Amino acid sequence: MTNLKVLVSSNDFPDSGLQILREHFTVVQSPYSHFGEEGATQNKEELLKLIPGSSALVWVTHHPLTKELLDKAGPQLKIVATASAGYNHANVEELKARGIKLSNTPNVLSSAVAEIAVSLMLATARRFTENLDQVRRGEWEAGFVKVLGQDIRGSTVGVIGLGGIGQAVVKRLAGFEVAKFLYTGHREKPEAKALGAEFVNLDDLLTKSDFILLAVPLTSETRHMINSTTLGKMKSNAILINVGRGDLVDQEALYDALKSKKIYAAGLDVTTPEPLPKDHKLLTLPNIFVLPHIGSATVRTRNDMAVLTSNNVVNALTGKPLITPILE
Ligand code: DGY
Repeated sequence: MTNLKVLVSSNDFPDSGLQILREHFTVVQSPYSHFGEEGATQNKEELLKLIPGSSALVWVTHHPLTKELLDKAGPQLKIVATASAGYNHANVEELKARGIKLSNTPNVLSSAVAEIAVSLMLATARRFTENLDQVRRGEWEAGFVKVLGQDIRGSTVGVIGLGGIGQAVVKRLAGFEVAKFLYTGHREKPEAKALGAEFVNLDDLLTKSDFILLAVPLTSETRHMINSTTLGKMKSNAILINVGRGDLVDQEALYDALKSKKIYAAGLDVTTPEPLPKDHKLLTLPNIFVLPHIGSATVRTRNDMAVLTSNNVVNALTGKPLITPILE
């Protein structure tokens, strides 16, 4: 064990990851979680106290990594290891300017997130929100014609971003008799052929798909890529699924499109903000199904993410290449 200090930024980092860190380093952990407004404020104050002298930061959720925090950490900081695939909160330009490494946790969470994407497709296509509401009210619609949904069978599924998660969704849908998989992105993916997915431009995907899956990282280019213009190109039976980041979607425009039935439904695992306030107008709509960002939230996946995060820290502080580098 060395005296190098590793700060773990919240109290909910799995033991599987902590054990690895403790074998090598002096581990300091915030007693708070990032979650909720109160948790985030308390935690920020605590982190400012704990961060000086850290050689590594294990960044457990999506709390912004500010210049103030980096300044407080000091010049010995070598690596930020974020326990997430997304790293839009990690202040990449600032880390780069300071020569600090950055790692994330891609791949290990693809199947768990893909399962949530498929769940959202089913929940929205079969109108779980309205149907569950009937059950809760004890007022089931009688008869043959119930709240009728749409089939995945025979549909066109368009994937925006055929990376690890997008590919995992296509694989999981193999038994659903999907008629066509389309995808779009910066370039064609070699994996697409085996998946039977056809590369198209964004407009083609928007105008032809029955399901549109957002599985891209949040960047300045993708922020609000779903807006009134792109929603306006979708079919009236289109279902939008977002397992990326809330800010990929202009939520005002989404609200209008759902309210006016310009599109059929939306299933969101990510929103802006998180948590979405319980009186948010999106939650008044019958044709939306919202989950509290649980894409990677299974015991196995969280453990895999924690182990990968910690091993990245070990590598960075022992002079080995990062396993999953963003900045090296
Ligand atoms: C990620 O890893 O980016 C997922 O959204 C879970 O946090």
